[in-house]
Amino acid sequence: MRNFEDIFKAKLSRRNFLKGSAAMAAISLLPKPSFAEAYKDIHLELRSKFPYQIVAGWGDKIGTDIEMGYNCDYVAYMPLAGNDSGLLCVNYETSDRDLMFPPNSKTGEEIAKEEMLAHGHSVVEIVKKSGKWELITDSKYNRRLNSYNTVFGISGPASQEIGTHCVGTLNNCGGGKTPWNTLLICEENFNAYFHGRDHQYGMFKNPHYEWYKYDARFADMNEAKKFGWVFEYDPYNPDSKPIKRTALGRFKHEGAATATTKDGRLAIYMGDDEGFQFIYKFVSDKKISEGGFDSDILDKGTLYAGKFDEEKITWLPIPNDELVNTRLAAKKLGATPMDRPEELTVHPLTGEIFVALSHNSQRRVGDAANPRIINATGHIIKLTPQDHGEIEHGWDIFLFGDENLACPDNLRFDQKGRLWITTDGMEHILGKNDGLFMVEDTNNPVVEQVLATPVRGEPTGIEFTPDGKTMFLSIQHPGRGSDYNKPYTRWPDFDESKPPRPAVIALDIS
Ligand code: FEO
Ligand code: CA
Ligand code: CA
Ligand code: CA
Repeated sequence: MRNFEDIFKAKLSRRNFLKGSAAMAAISLLPKPSFAEAYKDIHLELRSKFPYQIVAGWGDKIGTDIEMGYNCDYVAYMPLAGNDSGLLCVNYETSDRDLMFPPNSKTGEEIAKEEMLAHGHSVVEIVKKSGKWELITDSKYNRRLNSYNTVFGISGPASQEIGTHCVGTLNNCGGGKTPWNTLLICEENFNAYFHGRDHQYGMFKNPHYEWYKYDARFADMNEAKKFGWVFEYDPYNPDSKPIKRTALGRFKHEGAATATTKDGRLAIYMGDDEGFQFIYKFVSDKKISEGGFDSDILDKGTLYAGKFDEEKITWLPIPNDELVNTRLAAKKLGATPMDRPEELTVHPLTGEIFVALSHNSQRRVGDAANPRIINATGHIIKLTPQDHGEIEHGWDIFLFGDENLACPDNLRFDQKGRLWITTDGMEHILGKNDGLFMVEDTNNPVVEQVLATPVRGEPTGIEFTPDGKTMFLSIQHPGRGSDYNKPYTRWPDFDESKPPRPAVIALDIS
């Protein structure tokens, strides 16, 4: 059997010969010493190279009866009037009862309801006045989608089997934008809510959330089939019904990066965030010009799972009648089990797709795309198609995680072609807070850390205004692992009467 570390080294030396020192930098991350020094320890405050402000956090009112949810994740800025007026659209992935509520202040049923309301997604109009972002709390656009009482449509091939509507969305992690300015919102770890068994998705009889004790939906394994999808909604139409698009597959969705094939169809790149799961690509049958929301561009097409060898990736089509069990279908086809696929993102100029592979300490046998045994710090690979419709094309390793950057999660390019990377898990692996990193030029990948979260926080949801001068970023779960009375940090308020609050910040990166 061939040793894949050796194969990788041979591949790397070949590239070094071709490209000189640039390729070498791909595996030796070189943060500027001053920043490495500034970010090395565990700290309570947020540290940033760029000036920043808090835009909105958990509990902030965005309407008469609605407020921002708990662990903010994906963020989209949808312009109303350019760079200073738009809709801030935010996902809420998880809740943390130990940090949210004083001990013994609520019944289990009350906690379950508040947690369901704190999950989901929100839209709030924001405006920048005298350099400061403000919420327009009485805007007609403001709305909440939640796990408690929001009704979702279900469309596409699996709707015949599972039904055409449901109540709620769960674990809304990453997302993406369609060319017709709707949003694609992911449901990630939906297994954590259901009381029942499904080995494929890691469902057991003791879910993390206790909602099933108070709400029969979460003790019903037929209901569970209505989760683990991507939904689409139109943020510019506050009455639009969100629709789960089953053609995009059922798994622990992390991100939905869109691109256009040369013949005008839509491609969507997606990861399934768990060790030994797969990466996916959906390609529509119809052309983007044939319609947008309410057309069937997202309901008719082919979902593919990625299979790697040393030189190429082959996209394997998943049968439409197997979408409810997408993981089993991809495994049966022989897709390549990856080291925890997080976000995929498309380079705006080259069309290359960068794939964050968080880490996989369970890996004992390497392969071409996952060459490291016991991959504690993760890596990033890039796919190099000539056309997003291709079912076979090249790929390469972009970088390996190391003692400076470990566990890459979100990836996003800005308008200048700079790659921004967030991490999730550095505290466990490296003993320092998670961070935001920047690569000025992916052909010469020198990595610079520019932000570190408060202790036990996680930066997510990288987003930019159209002029690229403002970056929005979610700061998730500051103080995770501690409790209401003794939180590790009280960021961002540092008020002794308040626990820490997950919040969206705006960084001035101009
Ligand atoms: Fe929600 Fe995979 O991070
Ligand atoms: Ca993520
Ligand atoms: Ca994460
Ligand atoms: Ca993650």
